[in-house]
Amino acid sequence: MCSFEAVFGAPPGVVAQAPGRVNLMGEHTDYNDGYVLPIAIEQQTTVSMRHNDQGEFALHSEMLGSTVRFTLDTLPAEHFATYVYGCLVEARADGIHTPPLDIHVQSDVPMGVGLSSSAALEVATLRALRALTGQPLDDVRIAQLAQRAEIRHAGVRCGIMDQMASSLADTKSALFLDTRTLDRRLVPLPPESAVLVLYSGVARTLAGSGYNQRRAECEEAAQRLGVVSLRDVDDISAADTLPEPLCRRVRHIISENARVLVAAACCSAGEFGGLMNASHASLRDDYEVSVPELDQLVALLQAHPNVYGARLTGAGFGGACVALCEPQALNEVSQVVLQDYSDEGFTGRVLVPSLSSTV
Ligand code: GLA
Repeated sequence: MCSFEAVFGAPPGVVAQAPGRVNLMGEHTDYNDGYVLPIAIEQQTTVSMRHNDQGEFALHSEMLGSTVRFTLDTLPAEHFATYVYGCLVEARADGIHTPPLDIHVQSDVPMGVGLSSSAALEVATLRALRALTGQPLDDVRIAQLAQRAEIRHAGVRCGIMDQMASSLADTKSALFLDTRTLDRRLVPLPPESAVLVLYSGVARTLAGSGYNQRRAECEEAAQRLGVVSLRDVDDISAADTLPEPLCRRVRHIISENARVLVAAACCSAGEFGGLMNASHASLRDDYEVSVPELDQLVALLQAHPNVYGARLTGAGFGGACVALCEPQALNEVSQVVLQDYSDEGFTGRVLVPSLSSTV
């Protein structure tokens, strides 16, 4: 572990943080202009910065123990650096002054498990740039620049959910977001409920997965249905006019948007949990982004008496499950479910609540 001062020889000018997120409802709806309901998690990424006079950027990752040097003319070869580079390039293109900087990154957001460690890194980078240079950058613009960085420089044609969640959500209430208009409001969790996130042990890489392919399928379906995006289709029978697999992709998007609207207005944990279960079935059968391990973990969670509902969360193709549980049973649920999961030959672990917090 090497602090900013140990790497760069002087303390940073500013320190900024941004959290990861877990999505409670509304999966793959954001790039269809639909509705989402993420919540921030306790784990944060911290970015420290200082001006340098070297004429180039120096970026140190405490987790990787390495320093990368780059200018804004050439995409760095190191993957983690592309997110920071992308934010700086997009900020510059948007008229933000981006002087050469020493940058230090430290994070306890788990990487590669679907909790948006990349969005946390992007948002923390832009918050640090705002704090250091005093330039006007509001939280929505930060999310938009961060999304652009990810699409243009990291190669994932993501929606805006993760960046908006990292920039605007908190850990106490979910962020109900209309990804078309960016209208949003904070929604409290149902009474007597708490969020549990378990990792399935199956790694996922977004860009290498079917994520971009799903997005292309949705675009094709929207074109065939003569709408700008699938957000514009309310009648689920419209899906029946399309060939396989487009009909099922459309069915998922329409039903998932409807579930988010109900979830954002619902006040019972039982009802919310039922929507989560339905969301998982839709992601598994219609959108086909689950894997057997996630199905197994979700089934074990759903079968536990202190769990209201569970589903895969994030893009899928591996990664994590989210469950809504009775708050006092979080420890018991995670222990029992992970033991049963292990008896079936898999290895999972608890991601939220984090080890450092009291359950
Ligand atoms: C990833 C993307 C998001 C969203 C989810 C799926 O996290 O970054 O924009 O599309 O997958 O809901």
